[in-house]
Amino acid sequence: MSEPTRKVFIKTHGCQMNVYDSGRMADALRPAGYEQTGEIDDADLVLINTCHIREKASDKVYSEIGRLRVLKDQHRAAGRDMTIAIAGCVAQAEGKEILRRAPSVDVVVGPQGYHRLPDLLERAKRQGRAIDVEFSEDDKFDHLPATDPRTHLKRGPSAFLTIQEGCDKFCSFCVVPYTRGMEVSRPMPQILAEARAMVEAGVCEITLLGQNVNAYHGANGSGGEASLGDLLFALARIDGVKRLRYTTSHPNDMHDTLYAAHRDLTQLTPLLHLPVQSGSDAMLKAMNRKHTVADYHAVVDRMNMIRDDMAFSSDFIVAHPGETDADFAATLALVERVGYASCYSFKYSARPGTPAAERTDLVAPEVANERLQILQNLLNDQETAFLKGLVGKTIDVLFERKGRDAGQIVGRSPYVQPVQVNAPAEMIGQIGQVMITSTGTHSLFGHLATTPATVVSHTLMEAGA
Ligand code: SAH
Ligand code: SF4
Ligand code: F3S
Repeated sequence: MSEPTRKVFIKTHGCQMNVYDSGRMADALRPAGYEQTGEIDDADLVLINTCHIREKASDKVYSEIGRLRVLKDQHRAAGRDMTIAIAGCVAQAEGKEILRRAPSVDVVVGPQGYHRLPDLLERAKRQGRAIDVEFSEDDKFDHLPATDPRTHLKRGPSAFLTIQEGCDKFCSFCVVPYTRGMEVSRPMPQILAEARAMVEAGVCEITLLGQNVNAYHGANGSGGEASLGDLLFALARIDGVKRLRYTTSHPNDMHDTLYAAHRDLTQLTPLLHLPVQSGSDAMLKAMNRKHTVADYHAVVDRMNMIRDDMAFSSDFIVAHPGETDADFAATLALVERVGYASCYSFKYSARPGTPAAERTDLVAPEVANERLQILQNLLNDQETAFLKGLVGKTIDVLFERKGRDAGQIVGRSPYVQPVQVNAPAEMIGQIGQVMITSTGTHSLFGHLATTPATVVSHTLMEAGA
């Protein structure tokens, strides 16, 4: 490559899809001569991958740009260039506004345009600034380079893989259909090829991503369509894929093949992240969720019938416009009935352009705060109970990295919590059986229940055997 090496610093906000996209942007920039750096001061290009989901998340972008401007000015005084690029969902939703408000920003690119990033940087160099927030006709996944092993090697044995992007559901409160566009599924052969490349790069746990991942309906490569269940069965056949996860699911897209996958695939972890948002039918209607509380319980009950080790997580919004005390009480009742392993809960945040933002029957802020507190207390109690329920049990842990203390390594349980264990670093990248001995706030502690063959031989070698 004749181009000199330049350095890109990438900061990622928002959901797991943004984490995946940041990796793909790093891949797309590599042929243009950019290597990733963890030091912002060394960067020729600072790329912020933004999130628009709540007001707080998107407001952060402008203060961050303010700090970058100072750095850019310092660099300029020292005779160095620093390019600022804003990507992600704020870029998509407010791209022109960003350029207007922040003269220091050179490039704005929405989630559909990442494969054009090198061109945009060139264009910015020629013209001063460049913006790309079109929902493209061309599929970005056809243009992004094949997953580069270097991106994954750095991350360890667990990787994200986007299989579906966008959303057609238009929940009353949500910006995603506007920032990610209509729902698009990637063809199954393309996904399988990317999964194989990941495995070759040392990945053994793949988390499939989509805003509505279980609405996946990609071409199956032989004239038909594959569902998420079909895709999971195909991925489980790839040698070296030891664990599969998927997120985020919608209660309306639970198909028979997905239940079958949970029944039959040992690689598929027994955790279903199934956001419900509210436990009141009136609120679900107001939120345009198109399912009832009973529909939701039916999914949970069927999964519980299939696997007795099944656990659930969810997202909740309190104080959506019009939410009454009775609606909120119904949410608490739903939580009591399901019994969650872990959840995210948020106070409703009005987002420009969404139908809920037009409503005037707002819940008073102090009521919203109180409801959030009550809900979070209940969810925290459930999480603690779930973790305590694992004490004394032996579970599979995929070890991902060294721990803080010497001799300690950290992995993840099938239910996603970090698990700290005293074990040899050689076990990183392997799944070990761990007996859980105690719990932290969101984590677990344990010891190896069995010593795997590779580690035994290593220990014997060290002992001179
Ligand atoms: N696609 C997923 C998640 C989308 S965003 C789904 O369909 O559930 C993640 C979570 O953010 C949502 O589940 C919701 O709980 C929360 N969220 C989205 N918009 C919000 C808003 N305007 N105010 C507060 N929370 C919101
Ligand atoms: Fe947003 Fe609803 Fe789509 Fe989830 S299903 S991304 S909450 S519009
Ligand atoms: Fe945020 Fe966009 Fe993800 S709004 S949650 S980064 S889809």
